[in-house]
Amino acid sequence: MKIKKAVFPVAGLGTRFLPATKASPKEMMPLVDKPLIQYVVEEAIDAGIEEVIMITGRGKNAIEDHFDISFELEHALKGKNNNKMLEEVQRISNLVDFWYIRQKEPLGLGHAILRTKDLIGNEPFAVLLGDDIIHSEVPTIKQLMNIHEKYNASVIAVEKVDKKDISGYGVIEPKKLDDRVYQIMDMVEKPSPQDAPSDLAIIGRYILTPEIFTALEKTVPDKSGEIQLTYGLRHLLKQQVVYAYQFEGKRYDAGNKLGFLKATVEFALRRPDLGDKFREYLKGLEL
Ligand code: G1P
Repeated sequence: MKIKKAVFPVAGLGTRFLPATKASPKEMMPLVDKPLIQYVVEEAIDAGIEEVIMITGRGKNAIEDHFDISFELEHALKGKNNNKMLEEVQRISNLVDFWYIRQKEPLGLGHAILRTKDLIGNEPFAVLLGDDIIHSEVPTIKQLMNIHEKYNASVIAVEKVDKKDISGYGVIEPKKLDDRVYQIMDMVEKPSPQDAPSDLAIIGRYILTPEIFTALEKTVPDKSGEIQLTYGLRHLLKQQVVYAYQFEGKRYDAGNKLGFLKATVEFALRRPDLGDKFREYLKGLEL
């Protein structure tokens, strides 16, 4: 079944980026000149997504405004005959249909996704987390869609991660089926390195079957009161096969400071209008 809807959980408080995120959403922090959330939305659109569902919270209005028309700005750009920028600004608001749902309290990723139950209905859908920015030839969510088409089941993106960093992720117990394709036998959220069942970490791209909603309804909150998507998926495993796909592409953890800096430098170096000059500048740095 073709995946038409994509869910973007953007209600997180962004505490890892304070004070920058005190009054502005972390999703609006720019990589070069585009907010993080736009990279992820464009990845979904490039993969053929037609409807974007954002799960927002208080203080996140800038995200809605970013994907809306900006009458005053367009008027000013027209007045200055700045057609190139006008087109870019209009393109953003014409991307696809956007829906916004509020998650009133930060009760976890699983809880956020459960909020979309009525809007999604009885069809498989995509989930994209804005902290994971991926540079790849084929959009990562499209790579998962291809696997979903073949197996008609939920598919999760995974990547090999150093054991010392593994406790920042959901981790799968894999059974290898094919090149880059695994059946998930079990999974655990943020294990200590010695308890991790493998070095395959869950990265923020998922294709989920609608049965995830009943699975999430059965999931009890963890110690911090949050409903984890990983544990919802664990319930789903009892009912359906769930696959993992080791995607092709370079992933940046833009949700932490060092990852964000690496992404900024590498995205700038790849830009045709900035890359050469920026490379020259970096080479000449003496600090
Ligand atoms: C979430 C998921 C985790 C996954 C990670 C990927 O954690 O709960 O399983 O590995 O995203 O980025 P978070 O980073 O939101 O704490």
